Amino acid sequence: MKGIANYGVFKDYITVADLGCSSGTNTLLVVSNIIDIVHEVCQENNREVPQFHVCLNDLFRNDFNTIFKSLPDFYANLKKNKGEAFGPCFVSAVPGSFYGRLLPNKSLHLVHCATSNQWLDL
Ligand SMILES: C[S@@+](CC[C@H](N)C(=O)[O-])C[C@H]1O[C@@H](n2cnc3c(N)ncnc32)[C@H](O)[C@@H]1O
Ligand SMILES: *[C@@H]1O[C@H](CO)[C@@H](O)[C@H](O)[C@H]1NC(C)=O
Repeated sequence: MKGIANYGVFKDYITVADLGCSSGTNTLLVVSNIIDIVHEVCQENNREVPQFHVCLNDLFRNDFNTIFKSLPDFYANLKKNKGEAFGPCFVSAVPGSFYGRLLPNKSLHLVHCATSNQWLDL
């Protein structure tokens, strides 16, 4: 994470993916943790906090609607905790298997995966 902040791999926005995000209470908690860490590291390094593009991936059958329904509260909390100037953060769903291509080449800055699965060719 520190390396990312120092080497300036991202500029105005950071695109983050969570592969195998599921649809429970942990899903947005993971996103929240990632945002907190990036936010903190940017402040430590005196650089502007980027906008966040978060790509939530899971299989087609995943209950993305449940995640979407909790987004208003999630966004409101971000504003409350980080201030009006923060972000914003844009969450989108990327359904499909991470064993295949999910997004265009070189479109991600940070990939999180909390399953023990392997993936190729991000
Ligand atoms: C054990 S859960 C982990 C959920 C979440 N990452 C966490 O840490 O709480 C594994 C998730 O990976 C998803 N998954 C499994 N194989 C996948 C694949 N090939 N592509 C995308 N998602 C996959 C499952 O649908 C499931 O939601
Ligand atoms: C995208 O990446 C794949 C795998 O590395 C490669 O085969 C393909 O040519 C790339 N496509 C473009 C448009 O760069």
